[in-house]
Amino acid sequence: MHILGIETSCDETAAAVVKNGRDILSNVVASSLKEHKKYGGIIPEIASRRQMELITLVVKEALSKAGMDLKDIRAVAVTRSPGLIGSLLVGTCFARSLAYALRRPLIEVDHIKAHLHANFLKDTGKDTSQPRNRPKLPAAGLVVSGGHTSLFYVKDPLNFRLVGQTRDDAAGEAFDKVARILDLGYPGGPVIDRLAKKGRPGKVRFPCADLKGSRDFSFSGIKTAVLYYARDKWDRRSVTIHDLAYAFQDSVVSVLTRKCIRLCEAVKTRTLLVGGGVAANSMLRERLLLETRARGIRLFVPPMALCTDNAAMIAAAGYPFFQKRFGGKGRHS
Ligand code: KG4
Ligand code: ZN
Repeated sequence: MHILGIETSCDETAAAVVKNGRDILSNVVASSLKEHKKYGGIIPEIASRRQMELITLVVKEALSKAGMDLKDIRAVAVTRSPGLIGSLLVGTCFARSLAYALRRPLIEVDHIKAHLHANFLKDTGKDTSQPRNRPKLPAAGLVVSGGHTSLFYVKDPLNFRLVGQTRDDAAGEAFDKVARILDLGYPGGPVIDRLAKKGRPGKVRFPCADLKGSRDFSFSGIKTAVLYYARDKWDRRSVTIHDLAYAFQDSVVSVLTRKCIRLCEAVKTRTLLVGGGVAANSMLRERLLLETRARGIRLFVPPMALCTDNAAMIAAAGYPFFQKRFGGKGRHS
């Protein structure tokens, strides 16, 4: 049973063919990121214009890489929300027209939850931190991306309960804004991750709000703390940019890790699913692995390419909906 996934919520134009919600036959991602870099963030108008130009080509390439024809596709899954409105319109209009023309079901999925569905795909990368088996549910789930930081109780693939979220900036947004303050370019996450590897612990500290007693997050305070430090106090002879990146990242990673473990313990689950662009962060991956291992919790983090936006996760998220509606038979709508 093959699903064509389409994702256009931000700067990417992506299409993928996934078999039975698990095997990735193709996963094509075209990004317009380079065109946004000089502005220090995504410009929605540029993103949607590029997506209009690219969508047909990207879908064709995904089908050809999978060795399939349009007629072999049993359903089309597409990101419904959240995202940039113009970008979402390109993907949903394309997917709706395609499903209508092919007389196949259209499944509209939530982008945030789809980040966790990436953990149900077979590991195609070399990342050994991910166990090969399917995650056992119920699970705790953390989505950390540029737009969202959300904690879920995942009862089953169709039943996600939001139990905590950021009250201001998303974790990825904090990485991006701190990088901007430090003039490191966009997106900030990968640069800070790289710089922090050479950082010395304890040279400087930035507090990150814990919001004790709540499962919510707050990252705007730490961003402001970095801003004031960099502007008013920073002595570059004793504290390097690496030390600063380390201190910021360490603080954010500690809060994310602590809240995940607390949720696992509170809902008594031994499965933790993590997804979203910030899940590519090396310190977060290491810290989560360490803390979950110590408690006998199985950690699922997708390989790097499936952490950031892609269409394979959209197809994977569409699969359980298709199964529920059609019992896996793949009848036409
Ligand atoms: O999930 P994603 O590709 O797009 C959204 O749905 O937002 O996430 C993009 C975010 C950006 O904020 C980027 O800075 C962050 O993920 N990111 C990272 C890393 N790689 C990407 N943050 C920290 N460390 C990384 N290695
Ligand atoms: Zn995303």
